[in-house]
Amino acid sequence: MISKEILKEIIVSNEEFILQEIGKIVKRERIYFPVKLNKVVILYGVRRSGKTYVLFDLFKKYKDHALYIDFEDERLSGFEASDFEALKEAFLELKPHLVGKETVFLFDEVQNVNGWERFCRRIAERENIKVFVSGSSSKIMPIEIHTSLRGRAWSIETTPFSFREYLSLKGIDTSEKSFIYGPRKALVKKYFSEYIKWGGFPEVSLLKSNLEKRKVIKEYLEAMFFKDLVERFNITNIHLLKMLTEKLFSSFSLKFSLTAFYKQYKEKFPFSKDTLYSYYSHFLESMLIFEVRKFSESSYKRLRNPAKIYLVDTGICKKVTSADSGRILENIVFLELRKNGNEIFYFEEEGECDFIVKAHNGKFLPCQVTLELREENRKREINGLVEACKRLNIKRGKLFTYDEEGSKVVEGINIQILPVWKWLLEK
Ligand SMILES: Nc1ncnc2c1ncn2[C@@H]1O[C@H](COP(=O)(O)OP(=O)(O)OP(=O)(O)O)[C@@H](O)[C@H]1O
Ligand SMILES: [Mg+2]
Repeated sequence: MISKEILKEIIVSNEEFILQEIGKIVKRERIYFPVKLNKVVILYGVRRSGKTYVLFDLFKKYKDHALYIDFEDERLSGFEASDFEALKEAFLELKPHLVGKETVFLFDEVQNVNGWERFCRRIAERENIKVFVSGSSSKIMPIEIHTSLRGRAWSIETTPFSFREYLSLKGIDTSEKSFIYGPRKALVKKYFSEYIKWGGFPEVSLLKSNLEKRKVIKEYLEAMFFKDLVERFNITNIHLLKMLTEKLFSSFSLKFSLTAFYKQYKEKFPFSKDTLYSYYSHFLESMLIFEVRKFSESSYKRLRNPAKIYLVDTGICKKVTSADSGRILENIVFLELRKNGNEIFYFEEEGECDFIVKAHNGKFLPCQVTLELREENRKREINGLVEACKRLNIKRGKLFTYDEEGSKVVEGINIQILPVWKWLLEK
């Protein structure tokens, strides 16, 4: 049992900390909450993607009637589910004018309190309290949410910064169109080349020196490996996990075949096919990688063909040569398409097309991504895109590049060619 006096002290010190010490917070996109809400809102996402900062932002917004608690706070060690009621009372004793009024409770690292779900659910459903919780990426992910709150939660994913959010951090207001068309375009392009190189993890984006960026990314990778995979899933074959990580983190924007992996490594060290498949599924569950399946009417064929994989952030891609830039560009396009909640496939028949996007309204849009259109690849890229359009019986497709722009009509198909950075800002 933690005393109310200590709880009050913590409540007040958190309030002071957020209001006085936390500086500019970049507004996150796609984080919206339904107005009439009596569900527990759960923020989940890969580590360091900005979950706590979303809670800080909410605190600033609702500061007159909000409570922020971080259950990692060492002063709260020993806090149990039965202490929640005392916490609520401590808050209302500090702000008695809020009794009976709407309040907002923000609980960070909530997984540290066993049984938190029941309290949160009850106050969200029965009392005038909006509840937002967030937690460690290794404890609160879609599967955990699903099992613990079954339909009572409104979950929202946070991911590393999009390019727009990245620019916003750099002080560029992307709603000002002059950045796309005017003389300041050069600045946006400079930032895009940095974004391609380092990805969008907020902390990495804030750092100035490459040495520091590299060091932080390395720490993230280690934590992902040991905390989000080894510890979380009780992995015992560390060597297998290591090899698989290496392979996956360098196979972004490529097809990845578990069967081929199995064949390649089975003589080199011992592991079973089942173990390999289950380790691979942990990467997906942790949302470190995403799969894109081949476009096909038959789900059997879709699943039989190897998936293409993409990483949650391009900063953690294992790059080998400078020729990898095209694949990074493709990974960036994928992340943006995914954020819009589209269904995404790749196309492979005579030719290939990187994405077939199926929007909510059922409409398809084929998209091809290439760093630049050169003599040797022009025909292949365009033919693949045209073939995909024809196959779907649609008249337009998009071809993303690093910097080229224009339009073309090939065999009756309108192809819009546009730089990725511009597309990312135009939306
Ligand atoms: N919206 C934002 N605006 C400005 N900086 C941000 C923003 N989001 C995150 N950051 C920076 O990134 C760091 C990591 O973000 P944060 O602590 O919110 O991530 P998290 O997802 O809660 O991480 P963890 O998984 O470790 O709990 C912050 O300390 C801050 O420096
Ligand atoms: Mg956090």
